[in-house]
Amino acid sequence: MQAFEFYCPTKIYFGKGAEARVGEAVKHFGGTKVFIVYGGHSAVKSGLIARIEQTLTDAGLEHMSFGGVQPNPRLSHAREGVQKALAFGADFILGVGGGSVMDTSKAIAHGVANPETDIWDFWSKKAALTKTSKLGAVLTISAAGSETSDSAVLTNDETTLKRGLNTDLQRPLFAIMDPELTYTLPRYQVGCGVVDIMMHTLERYFNPGHPSNRMTDEIAEGLLRTVIDAGRVAMQDSHNYDAMSEIMWAGSLSHNNLTGLGGVKDFSVHQFGHELSGMFDAAHGATLSVMWPQWARYVVDTDPARFAHYGEAVWRLTRKGGESDRDLALRAIDTTEEFFRSIDMPTTFTELGIGVLSEEQLRELAERCTFFHTRVVGKFCPLDYDGILAVYRMANK
Ligand code: NZQ
Ligand code: ZN
Repeated sequence: MQAFEFYCPTKIYFGKGAEARVGEAVKHFGGTKVFIVYGGHSAVKSGLIARIEQTLTDAGLEHMSFGGVQPNPRLSHAREGVQKALAFGADFILGVGGGSVMDTSKAIAHGVANPETDIWDFWSKKAALTKTSKLGAVLTISAAGSETSDSAVLTNDETTLKRGLNTDLQRPLFAIMDPELTYTLPRYQVGCGVVDIMMHTLERYFNPGHPSNRMTDEIAEGLLRTVIDAGRVAMQDSHNYDAMSEIMWAGSLSHNNLTGLGGVKDFSVHQFGHELSGMFDAAHGATLSVMWPQWARYVVDTDPARFAHYGEAVWRLTRKGGESDRDLALRAIDTTEEFFRSIDMPTTFTELGIGVLSEEQLRELAERCTFFHTRVVGKFCPLDYDGILAVYRMANK
């Protein structure tokens, strides 16, 4: 096990009706003027925003609401939120939604605390983030894990580049997690969430040399088995409280770093996915179900035994007489891909809805993914421009 730091400061309020405690939670962390951030329609239609506003009013807290966050959230909208929150005099930012809402809330929190800096400077690494505003989350979709993660991903709508920022400063102070709030999710979003949660775990599980790290491996394997089982149930019945609960808790644990302690993160599949979302506005989880099997087949020879172990521990595959690590590894990858198909997640560009791409488009994707020839991606098997292009080509059908 390699040396690590584990910092997971977010207070969790989990269970039915937990959102009724939002006023108590904001007060606990010293907020007085709450800027509520939400998405398109779902949280208004379900009555959640009205209930949150009422609860805050009952707690004697001033509040202002700001909707309109889109999936793959846009920089221009976050900038607008910063101006509105500053004008309101907000001292607490409350995201009510999923990853897109939370990441926008994180951006607004940074902008409010640093009004002299354009927020994109933090994402483009022109400026270092040293302070932010108080931030809380009410989760309505289990997927991105932003409610406890150190990450926020924004799309610059002028350049269509989708970029991430990682800092412990943006881990929310609290996260309210009521699985019943996810009952209204469309089936497609449930599937995207299951894939994303698996990916946050697998992007940590496949790491160079995977030094003896049993505790972390067992947590990761248990989380994967749980989310796969619960995902199958949730795809049939999004009102199944037990399944939605398992997925919701798995979502947070998959991305607060617990499933990667003592190892190195890879995250190349996320990098492939971000470029697809930036260029084609594709749903995050769907980009990952397309790219993971391609990536896995491309890098399998880096460590076939690791993939074989994954097949045995997560999918309960049994080695056939004389079967090599490599053959078992390939079966594990095929089994993962079959699972994605079984929950109606795409595994090719055509299924993703972007069609078969031209050679020029593939090259553009690969260039963007290398940040225009300034980096390689991944740690398990670092990939340069040619490697990245080859993996995109494998998905191009
Ligand atoms: O906008 P509304 O109407 O709310 O609809 C949303 C949206 O269309 C809908 N939705 C959310 N809760 C719902 C609901 N519909 C019905 N009932 C509910 N209870 O779901 C759609 C997707 O929402 P979004 O927030 O985009 O989903 P998700 O949580 O998957 O977030 C994806 C974004 O997070 C980023 C992704 O890149 C993407 O931009 N990520 C953020 C991470 C982080 N900050 O730690 C890590 C992830 O790897 C990821 O990159
Ligand atoms: Zn993700």
